[in-house]
Amino acid sequence: MTNIQTGVTSETPSLAWLAEVERIIPAGCSTLAKTPRRLLPGRGAIVAARAKDAEFTDLDGRTWLDCEMAMGTATWGHARPEVEEAVIAQLRRGTSFSVADRLELTLAQRLLARFGVYESVKFAKSGADAVTGAVRIARATTGRDLVVATEYHGWHDWAAPAHYSAGHAALGIPRAVSALTLTCPPGDPQRLVDVLRRHPGAIAAVVLCPNRWSADHLRTVVEEARCHGAVVIFDEVTSGMRTGRRATCGEVDVWPDLLCISKGMANGLPLAGLLGDRRLVMRGEDVRMSNAHSSESLAFAAALACEELLGAAPAWPSWRSRTNTMIDTLRSRIAELGLTGRVEMRGDYSSFSLGTPGARDFWTDPFRAHVLENLADRHIFTKGYFVFSDRHTPAQLDEVERAIDAALTNY
Ligand SMILES: Cc1ncc(COP(=O)(O)O)c(C=O)c1O
Repeated sequence: MTNIQTGVTSETPSLAWLAEVERIIPAGCSTLAKTPRRLLPGRGAIVAARAKDAEFTDLDGRTWLDCEMAMGTATWGHARPEVEEAVIAQLRRGTSFSVADRLELTLAQRLLARFGVYESVKFAKSGADAVTGAVRIARATTGRDLVVATEYHGWHDWAAPAHYSAGHAALGIPRAVSALTLTCPPGDPQRLVDVLRRHPGAIAAVVLCPNRWSADHLRTVVEEARCHGAVVIFDEVTSGMRTGRRATCGEVDVWPDLLCISKGMANGLPLAGLLGDRRLVMRGEDVRMSNAHSSESLAFAAALACEELLGAAPAWPSWRSRTNTMIDTLRSRIAELGLTGRVEMRGDYSSFSLGTPGARDFWTDPFRAHVLENLADRHIFTKGYFVFSDRHTPAQLDEVERAIDAALTNY
């Protein structure tokens, strides 16, 4: 049957894939943020076949301008030749060895030189692993059990109940474990200070995503956490590679005891890093933070290629200034069109979204749905938020701005 509006028939390869995948893989994709349930089957892209630069082609052969870049992991653009060549060369030398690969030390040294304030590094394969490693180190160092979470910090037991409304039992996490994590909303220093004061001498770590705090508030809460003897962990899993050369902490010059970075480090290959002073990071061994794949070589080779690109980049992130202009222009358009109160823009050049103020949640937000539909008709892919890359051309960014402007105009 053909949908008159979209011209897509239920026999398209994408829809046939969807029917099959939903029976076999929970939510249709092992990375839940990529589930087809959050997309527009029959209208937008739901399954990819290949990608290059700032575009990807779906299973139906339609090409999309990618405004998410694999959840912000493909910072340098899909199939970036410099990264591809490094990975292929490494593949020929070997993917993973029975002993350490020398690339691990080389990459550690490059990262330490880039940040300039830390002494040691431990690698992991996911953001959740890096932040969980940091929390375990904090607990082992302080001898305390409580942790303050302020955001989504990954799917692990200590972090998930604080983020999801489903409750610990539905998540399969014991109450006793979830009770050890206290929560505090991002950007609210008073609430965090109150939590610290209510639990004197008991909090091992405060975990913050610094890009969600003003620099002044961040300074206040970091100082307060240190006064309470808590280890300050910055979860820059998402923001670390795309706010600046030295992550958000470098932009605002507020440094945590432990810094976690991940997305974009290896242009889409799985890698995370935990940076800090020697005394803390070396405890990564004591807490047995380890995976069989932590020292796998392809991601190290890719990350080193990314470090080379970063070293050569005249400004970073390269899309910062154009995106700032886009955000300013669209904010003005919201006001001009009388949409203030119905639509708001959140975020910054590293990632922004448009939504309905006070919407219950992002995924059911009516303005988000409107933007998705409007942009899908122009073959621009987004799930509601926008993350660009080094490979987005000025013409493509102009096109995104025009498309969002049109969506605002017809709302
Ligand atoms: C701020 C933050 N922390 C941690 C994580 C978990 O990272 P990963 O999905 O690589 O385990 C995410 C993932 O989106 C994140 O956004």
